[in-house]
Amino acid sequence: MNITVIGAGYVGLVTAISLAETKNNVTCIDIDMNKIEALQQGRTPIYEVGLEKLLKKNLKEGRITFKNTIELGVNDAEIIYLAVGTPQSEDGSANMNYMYEAVDIVAKSILKDTIFVVKSTVPIGENSKLEIRANALSPYQVTVVSNPEFLREGTAIQDVFNGERIILGANNKEALDKLVKVNEKFETPIVKTTLESAEMIKYASNAFLAMKISYINEIANLSEMVGANISEVSLGMGLDKRIGHRFLQAGVGYGGSCFPKDTHALLNISEKAGYDFRLIKEVIHVNRMQRERIIIKLLKYLPSLVGKKIAVLGVTFKPDTDDIRDAPSLDIIGALEGLGAEIAVYDPIFSKKMGHIPNIASMFNNVTEYTSINDALLGADAALVITDWEEIKNIQPNQFLEKMLTPIIIDGRQCYNAQEMDANGIIFDAVGLGGVTIKDDNKVKVLS
Ligand code: NAD
Ligand code: UGA
Repeated sequence: MNITVIGAGYVGLVTAISLAETKNNVTCIDIDMNKIEALQQGRTPIYEVGLEKLLKKNLKEGRITFKNTIELGVNDAEIIYLAVGTPQSEDGSANMNYMYEAVDIVAKSILKDTIFVVKSTVPIGENSKLEIRANALSPYQVTVVSNPEFLREGTAIQDVFNGERIILGANNKEALDKLVKVNEKFETPIVKTTLESAEMIKYASNAFLAMKISYINEIANLSEMVGANISEVSLGMGLDKRIGHRFLQAGVGYGGSCFPKDTHALLNISEKAGYDFRLIKEVIHVNRMQRERIIIKLLKYLPSLVGKKIAVLGVTFKPDTDDIRDAPSLDIIGALEGLGAEIAVYDPIFSKKMGHIPNIASMFNNVTEYTSINDALLGADAALVITDWEEIKNIQPNQFLEKMLTPIIIDGRQCYNAQEMDANGIIFDAVGLGGVTIKDDNKVKVLS
């Protein structure tokens, strides 16, 4: 099938490549010429494990092409996917401007009846409006299908090819059946529903996961006060299948381009509908406080940060991505700078050859970037662990001891064992560390 994908970001590019991999002829379009040039040469502009290999394969096999003008790339397409950004506006709502611009040009450029598949996360009711908008601009019939995306950055390819569900929402059976055909190749359960329910499934899912994280963070904060240990609490809770172990890792809170903006957008949708969604307000509030708590912890050990060198380990919002959108590290670095600290940041992404390397130093006045952990730690008065990259989790106690001026470690992502740190003479604190941990590598005894 001839398919066009508008937007070559995290979602659009992964969508385009996975549709090519499942034997469709795909044209992927983006207005960013730098992205298109890189992609035409077989380089991915984002860091995502396994993506570049699939890109090269599908370029070689002639199933994917990249263009930077919509008018030249939509004529042959039976289906056009839209995967442009819907960032947060000042009032918390999802900004639909990129989507409106893209839909307008696409609608004016098509030369036959076409299905528009909306991958982007859009507020409930927006897909219907997009359909009306497109049909007002085109003499051809436009049918909109909502197909929200559930991939996670860092594991995008794995998520797309081993997903748990594909949601297809539409008010038109023929369009829905066509999309079922395209998606059957992913061998994933497909849920057919209406436009509005599909849109709600996306927001409700992200907000639920965000709620799980804020919940476990509150339990972590309480654990610190009453002598429990959050890593063991999460382990014990998660074994109950009704709760599940995923998204129970306490820490500095959620960041990224999705949970923060989608929780705010859901709150905005509720306000507009006249519903007082108290739970989501608290989820957002707890998440904001969690970033501040790590600074409060540091101040327990260093009451004044003026002139102190603080190493910040990890800047991306999670490991295995180059994305720093709404990363907790940015607020934390900003707070440290405000308190007079000199900040030494390390992130493995600084030395990766793929993707976009964030320039943190240019965003602040008192930040130096390092491409080696040891250099970032050298002479530091304390270190804050913000992103749980494998490389950061593997730092040994003697590395901290040898390089730092004072070995004060505040672990925001449960990377290290408290007992091991204590035994090595490190001043160690962590989110949810209220008591001693049991020293046993096989904490769960499986009865056979
Ligand atoms: P992104 O910012 O990485 O990519 C969007 C791309 O669209 C950019 O490359 C931009 O240049 C391009 N673009 C903007 N206007 C365009 C136009 N008129 N024509 C062609 N290209 C245009 O965004 P993203 O992270 O891929 O997110 C896209 C949508 O998917 C959002 O609604 C987001 O909420 C949703 N989503 C994202 C993820 C994720 O992990 N990033 C997961 C699920 C859903
Ligand atoms: C999230 C969802 O998991 C995807 O299903 C969804 O498609 C996507 O948002 C989206 O809509 O864009 P993503 O933001 O890539 O994916 O990453 P997650 O793995 O969900 O992590 C989000 C944040 O939560 C990260 O900052 C992570 O560190 C934090 N987190 C996650 C925790 O603090 N604890 C956990 O237990 C899990």
